[in-house]
Amino acid sequence: MSLAEIASKQENLELLAEGKTKQIFGIKGEKDYVLIRSKDSLTAFNAERKNELEGKSRIASKTTTNVFEYLQLLGLPTHFEQAVSETEFIARKCTMIPIEWVARRVATGSFLKRNPGVKEGFRFADLKLETFFKDDANDDPQWSDEQIVSNGLMIDHLRIGREEISLMKKMTKMVFRVLEKAWALENSALIDMKIEFGVTVEGEILLADVIDNDSWRVWPENDRRLQLDKQVYRDMKEVTAEGLQLVLKNYTKVNRESYAF
Ligand SMILES: Nc1ncnc2c1ncn2[C@@H]1O[C@H](COP(=O)(O)OP(=O)(O)O)[C@@H](O)[C@H]1O
Ligand SMILES: [Mg+2]
Repeated sequence: MSLAEIASKQENLELLAEGKTKQIFGIKGEKDYVLIRSKDSLTAFNAERKNELEGKSRIASKTTTNVFEYLQLLGLPTHFEQAVSETEFIARKCTMIPIEWVARRVATGSFLKRNPGVKEGFRFADLKLETFFKDDANDDPQWSDEQIVSNGLMIDHLRIGREEISLMKKMTKMVFRVLEKAWALENSALIDMKIEFGVTVEGEILLADVIDNDSWRVWPENDRRLQLDKQVYRDMKEVTAEGLQLVLKNYTKVNRESYAF
């Protein structure tokens, strides 16, 4: 039986981890792979706001698949192996590095709060990179390179030091530039983006987790008012059924465009 066939049977799966938007399953007899299943949940503000949105899992999983297949073909090392259903894909099993790697082309959102005086729309000719330690209890504090090094993060046998940070920064920039170009061809501007990395059993650093419409800001025609990403959900004063349907429509549109990548 192929890996995909084994992974498509629920009795061969064992829940390893569950987050806000997805579940990670171990696959019977496979130590190197996991199955990643998207959930229909939409969350914001560290899950203070949370809604179920039917169909979101399918769209998010497909967008991630499109993006990862594209990056994989370009030679970027990712954990993505293959999609096995509309909401599931098989990935290399990783121990996740608990850092969010953010690249920004245009200043907006939380950057403006951390950097008072900078006006929305300030353009970073060189990409601005930021790193945040994943720590829900402390609202994901920003960490400098020095803080990452000094914290001596051990991911299995791999210590995250200067070299590893430099590699992940290069990869973050590369991913951003590639996706920025892809979006530009769709007449949209990639404003910022968040990615995560994991370490395989062999100690290799791979782009992991997901890249979907919750991972970035995309402004069609470079116009913030036309934004299509999760910011629409964050910006809602009050979540209404119509509001959620608009979000779903936006996610569907973004997904459709990700097929062009
Ligand atoms: N290739 C992988 N191998 C193992 N775990 C993974 C892999 N990719 C992502 N994960 C983990 O999946 C879990 C669920 O993801 P998510 O729902 O985004 O959680 P969170 O709410 O913590 O962001 C996270 O703990 C994430 O680190
Ligand atoms: Mg997550």
